[in-house]
Amino acid sequence: MSLTAEPKTQNQLEILLDAETVARRVRELAAQISADYRGRPLRLVGILKGAWMFLADLIRHMDLEEISVDFLGVASYGRSTKSSGEARITKDLDQSIEGLEVLIVEDILDTGETFNYLQEILGARRPKSLKAVVLLDKPSRRTRPAHADYVGFTIPDAFVIGYGLDYAENYRQLPDVRVLHLPKLEGVKGK
Ligand code: IMP
Ligand code: MG
Repeated sequence: MSLTAEPKTQNQLEILLDAETVARRVRELAAQISADYRGRPLRLVGILKGAWMFLADLIRHMDLEEISVDFLGVASYGRSTKSSGEARITKDLDQSIEGLEVLIVEDILDTGETFNYLQEILGARRPKSLKAVVLLDKPSRRTRPAHADYVGFTIPDAFVIGYGLDYAENYRQLPDVRVLHLPKLEGVKGK
């Protein structure tokens, strides 16, 4: 493998948060969450697909005796950078969360539609507590009020990819968070 040439696509992607900055913040979040849940069993619910890399890094820096993991698949964007506003489950949890202390692990809080949907459907399953950690928050894009208990970074209104986040299923493998600059036409139809 050549060490000199980066894949062509990466050249148009501007780094917003480099891998080291992300790693440092993820360790801080892990420490904070561990302190808050000390002595209590915790169920992490990772939202697929975007949150898998974040969850993998977060959990290995958490210092708690009882942590379990489950995943919920939710799709909202399809092949677009605009939220369809309609979240749907693509994979349900394997286990019940009734009576458990649950922490949702999400990649990004954008319009808030998915977040509200998650609160609704998971809240209805009667967990003992339900909180959320998001790596990224774009508060300027909200169409509905939404507030995460733990936020990695508050970022401006840009479409970001990498560190698990995708555009049409690409770029998830990048170790840092980058801004995807889109051709002008894409924004014209907007919502
Ligand atoms: P919301 O329903 O608009 O809050 O969208 C939340 C979901 O949309 C996230 O879980 C992501 O999967 C996706 N999303 C929102 N903004 C971005 C982005 O900038 N890059 C990649 N995915 C995004
Ligand atoms: Mg997602």
